[in-house]
Amino acid sequence: MNILITGCCGHIGSYVAENIYKIKKVKKTYLVDNLKSNSFSSLFNSKKRNNLSFFLLDLNDRKSLNKFKNIDIIIHCASMTNAEKSFGKKKEMFQNNLNCFNTVLNYCKKNKTKLIHLSSTSIYGKQTDLVDENCEKKYIKPQSPYAKIKLIEEKILKMNNSKIKYNTFRFGTIAGVSSGIRFHTAVNKFCFNASINQPIEVYKTALNQYRPYLSLSDAFRVFQFCIEKNFFENDIYNVLTDNCTVKQIINKIKKFKKNIKVKLVNTAIMNQLSYHVDGTKLKKKGLRLTGNLNKDIKDTLKLLSNI
Ligand SMILES: NC(=O)c1ccc[n+]([C@@H]2O[C@H](COP(=O)([O-])OP(=O)(O)OC[C@H]3O[C@@H](n4cnc5c(N)ncnc54)[C@H](O)[C@@H]3O)[C@@H](O)[C@H]2O)c1
Repeated sequence: MNILITGCCGHIGSYVAENIYKIKKVKKTYLVDNLKSNSFSSLFNSKKRNNLSFFLLDLNDRKSLNKFKNIDIIIHCASMTNAEKSFGKKKEMFQNNLNCFNTVLNYCKKNKTKLIHLSSTSIYGKQTDLVDENCEKKYIKPQSPYAKIKLIEEKILKMNNSKIKYNTFRFGTIAGVSSGIRFHTAVNKFCFNASINQPIEVYKTALNQYRPYLSLSDAFRVFQFCIEKNFFENDIYNVLTDNCTVKQIINKIKKFKKNIKVKLVNTAIMNQLSYHVDGTKLKKKGLRLTGNLNKDIKDTLKLLSNI
């Protein structure tokens, strides 16, 4: 089986590329990134056993994937991903992410390639105890341009239901170490600030709000499950390791790094409200997620321990 990973140099894509050898069915993996994120280091020291080939391509070019033949599955990770910065880069982000998505979608339709599409739990936003994939429309409240784009992608896929085999996974905020690790999302940013003895900046309203978090190892389990079980149901699944408050995340960091300071700040996405995300729909399909956020935090702090 041949796999293609877009956005392979990013936080998630690089982890998949590093671990793809664990999925025995996969014989060859093609990697695509435009390296706009400058994550060249994701390509260093890759293992021969992974059988990877890297291609420097920009998915804004709708023909960029045409050279690939016999791709069975695309894991689509290429996106601009900084939700907080997306307010200032709205146009650029809409253009880039929807272009990438359409290039991949058209390739999949034309070549009968299956698609693993990554959305985000940030499409939820209205206060309620628990949101699931079938929640009322009023609970779907994307608070940033980044999240709005995710919702558009989901809708386009639904409209193409008869023309493609896919799953959309709404991932919680990723925690864990990869060669393409980035530090703009909550857990990693907090670990970085703690490591350089700077105050951890927390949105004023967010300290006691619940959010879903996802261990990178669990993200990989999802891809492994899809590939090994041929799990493509043209459906949407929430994916999370746990729902935690920011305070609980900070307490996890405190276990390994004492004396951290917290500073409350304002932000454009601050009006997001507290919500728990329900991950049982995927669990019912037989996939058990066993990731450990404490370990992810410990590993991230360890990575930065000598600075
Ligand atoms: N990291 C998280 O917490 C998280 C949570 C939920 C969903 N997701 C989703 O998972 C996917 C992967 O996330 P990530 O954290 O690995 O992102 P990332 O920002 O670390 O990596 C994205 C990669 O895509 C590449 N890219 C961007 N535009 C491209 C283009 N036009 N052509 C080719 N390559 C391009 C970038 O260079 C980068 O290497 C994204 O769709 C993201 O929205 C991530």
